[in-house]
Amino acid sequence: MNTDVNGFMNIIIFASGNGSNAENIIKYFNKKKYNINWLTVTNNKHAGVIEKVTKLGAKIKIISKNDLGEEIFIHSIIGLKPALIILAGFLLKIPENFIKNFNNRIINIHPSLLPKYGGKGMYGQFVHRKVIENKEIKSGITIHFVNEKYDEGKIIFQKDIEIKEPKTSDSLANQIHKLEMKYFPLIIEKLIS
Ligand code: GAR
Repeated sequence: MNTDVNGFMNIIIFASGNGSNAENIIKYFNKKKYNINWLTVTNNKHAGVIEKVTKLGAKIKIISKNDLGEEIFIHSIIGLKPALIILAGFLLKIPENFIKNFNNRIINIHPSLLPKYGGKGMYGQFVHRKVIENKEIKSGITIHFVNEKYDEGKIIFQKDIEIKEPKTSDSLANQIHKLEMKYFPLIIEKLIS
């Protein structure tokens, strides 16, 4: 794995929203005393993730939608030689000219059992509402490599759960949140070890 002269690796988290996954991931690795430099990239200057991860020592980079496909931005990320790029509630599509530089090093978490309930516009509550609407018995989480198509990269890990009463999108979101908190750091740890 890529480490610098001091034995630190760079991990980059892309997040657009609340940032509970980003926070949980960084806390997990801080607690285990991993030597990691964290950078969080966000396209939303008001995102909750900014305060959460800054407190934990991560650096922040705020970008615009267009930056993602710009060579100057891409080269700044290549220069960091990231061990992993983690999408944790990042709502923009990662362009192909970005992805091609990081083969099997960009992962995403999705709050359903892909290939079900994936694709453009399917994120957060939109996913849970559809799952409930369709009277599914099970849902779960998927962690997958990112390719040029929304939610279609190779699956690394899935965990399913039976949807508990009351079958509302909020209670399902709660169940999914617990799975994300438990499994995402563990899978990341495997990938970087
Ligand atoms: C998470 O539930 C994640 O699975 C989902 O957004 C939420 C972000 O929460 N991602 C997607 O829906 C991607 N299509 P967080 O900001 O609190 O980590």
